[in-house]
Amino acid sequence: MDINSFFEKFFQKYGNRNEKPALFFSPGRVNLIGEHTDYNGGFVFPCALNYGTYLLIRKIKEKTLKFSTINFNDDIETGINGLFQNKSKKWINYPLGVINEFLKKGVELSGLEFLYYGDVPNGAGLSSSASIEMVTSVSLNDLFNAGLNTLEQVKMSQRAENEFVGMNCGIMDQFAVGFGKKNHAIFLNCDTLTYENVPIVLNDYSLIITNTNKRRGLTDSKYNERRRECDKAVELLQAYKPIRNLSELKSDESGILEKFIKDPVVRKRARHVISENGRVIEAVKVLKENNIVRFGELMNLSHDSLKEDYEVTGLELDTLVYEGRKLPGVIGSRMTGAGFGGCTVSIVKKADTIKFMTDLSEAYKKKTGLVPDFYQPEIGDGARKIG
Ligand code: GLA
Repeated sequence: MDINSFFEKFFQKYGNRNEKPALFFSPGRVNLIGEHTDYNGGFVFPCALNYGTYLLIRKIKEKTLKFSTINFNDDIETGINGLFQNKSKKWINYPLGVINEFLKKGVELSGLEFLYYGDVPNGAGLSSSASIEMVTSVSLNDLFNAGLNTLEQVKMSQRAENEFVGMNCGIMDQFAVGFGKKNHAIFLNCDTLTYENVPIVLNDYSLIITNTNKRRGLTDSKYNERRRECDKAVELLQAYKPIRNLSELKSDESGILEKFIKDPVVRKRARHVISENGRVIEAVKVLKENNIVRFGELMNLSHDSLKEDYEVTGLELDTLVYEGRKLPGVIGSRMTGAGFGGCTVSIVKKADTIKFMTDLSEAYKKKTGLVPDFYQPEIGDGARKIG
């Protein structure tokens, strides 16, 4: 949608053409490598996309919050105080959770009109939720001169999702969406929150995101189950040494898992986290050396570990990844995000991208009956005011 028609929709909905709303954008993200490590204090390597959520927002005199979106037929009005979770119109809980965080900080808000538009697919592992949270946050921070820095807003958005929405996510998504930098990925240590922007120069290769279009199912409950399994592993490993999280173990210590963790499932989960951290560190190193082929191999190993040890893939993701890898010019392909459905990310030789999309689409349809969507994203900047 172009910006003029977005403004036009706002005026049709809320009237008063004399007062222009402000325009904000927040990206979605794709994680290149480092999956299910963030809540284990490990390393991740995501980047912000040029797809995301747009928000038009305007102050009003009444003490009311009015929400609308171009994506669904959902209009909602609520008073400013005593915000509570909406059970049926779930997307609204992301903005409400963030507003709640601002109120908790003592920021005095007025009534507001909101109109959202997202061009990142929902629930597809590209952080549409973090994108809605952060676009809401940067707009409130700006409109009410709240003076909150990006890290504070990232943490508030994560809290909104953990406590208000009820999804126990780590910090990767909000961080990537908040701190994204054009043509760079973020090498983030999720324990210390120190990070480095690493240029992504793919030369003859291009990044392709493929959406399984599998309907979102048990992702949240399985996600929480994995978190509990990791907590269990940490508890058992206390007999080895006093660790706070699994990422305190280095790859060469994975031999001790057998001794201290008898449950084979819990042991596999820990093994994934430890090996994945090692892969992220190597991936960043080889990327800096321009060794994209090795970077691709590490992406492949990451997926294999997520399939075998972490068990968060499934028929759809595995079909895209393993059928994709058979095609010419594909040097790496893996699931991205929480898993179970959602998207894969692949690195494909530019000259082979059309064939990749056509042939993979065929093979995927044959095996799953579903039609995939493809995106060739650019790596963009983080959440910001754009008008
Ligand atoms: C989801 C969560 C993130 C992260 C990934 C898995 O996207 O929101 O915090 O845990 O899954 O790497």
